[in-house]
Amino acid sequence: MSGRLEGKVALVTGAGSGIGKETAKRFAAEGAHVAAADLNGDSARATAAELGGDAIGLEMDVTSAASAQAAVEAVVATFGGLDTVVNNAGVTIVGSIMELTEELWDKELNTNLKSIFLVSRAAWPHLEKRGGGSILVTASICATHALQNDAAYCASKAGAAMLTQCMALDGAKAGIRANCVLPGFIDTPMIHGYFNDQPDPAASRKGAESMHPLGRLGTPRDIADAFVYLASDDAKWVTGTRLVVDGGLTTGLWGG
Ligand SMILES: NC(=O)c1ccc[n+]([C@@H]2O[C@H](COP(=O)([O-])OP(=O)(O)OC[C@H]3O[C@@H](n4cnc5c(N)ncnc54)[C@H](O)[C@@H]3O)[C@@H](O)[C@H]2O)c1
Repeated sequence: MSGRLEGKVALVTGAGSGIGKETAKRFAAEGAHVAAADLNGDSARATAAELGGDAIGLEMDVTSAASAQAAVEAVVATFGGLDTVVNNAGVTIVGSIMELTEELWDKELNTNLKSIFLVSRAAWPHLEKRGGGSILVTASICATHALQNDAAYCASKAGAAMLTQCMALDGAKAGIRANCVLPGFIDTPMIHGYFNDQPDPAASRKGAESMHPLGRLGTPRDIADAFVYLASDDAKWVTGTRLVVDGGLTTGLWGG
């Protein structure tokens, strides 16, 4: 049986939950050797167990250079190389700049932005050794559209999208492609937390659904499918792109 990612080795961060977990599953189903990594080692190992085959689960803190290096080395030691990194781990910390503390700002920026620098830098020499490879990033529509009371998150995602473009330019000669996906609201524990923080969580969810012209929240599968495409040879001439996958949310002023 051959898949679109047959034989490729992939490291997926934040793979214990939501988009990362589904991406790890889709990559394995397409024939990739997958390392599922997460701050929560138990959830990473649980994802790997669900994937079966030769998948491994790794405990990894994407905000730590040493942890990023150790995870990459573990992947290379296990599978003999690395072709694709999915920089997906992230957190959302709501608040305007007057509500955010310096500590919360640093946590958001370190987890959502600095992590991409650390993990991609650790992976880079191994991608070069394979004659190129693919760096993928889960950004957000908040990279291009501000959300009220979400200053640090939006800033981190704008940075993530620009860092992706910089890596695309810097990696092009070595054959390293870098692309990001900009999801709309996706039905994962992260967005459930956001809804639950609102005065009326059910109304907040309904409102979010109706904001998307296609009439529903996205699923982790909607984003995982985009990553499969970007990691595959179907996208071999695609680099530096921002692929918006948002049910039409940011396509115009009114879509309902
Ligand atoms: N859900 C949405 O609506 C949405 C929309 C746009 C973008 N995103 C982005 O998608 C990505 C995945 O989010 P999700 O919705 O699947 O959320 P999620 O909370 O379900 O999963 C995030 C995972 O990241 C892990 N993580 C957090 N900090 C980490 C760290 N320091 N090191 C390693 N792992 C860490 C968590 O343990 C968790 O398993 C995030 O970058 C998020 O910003 C989500």
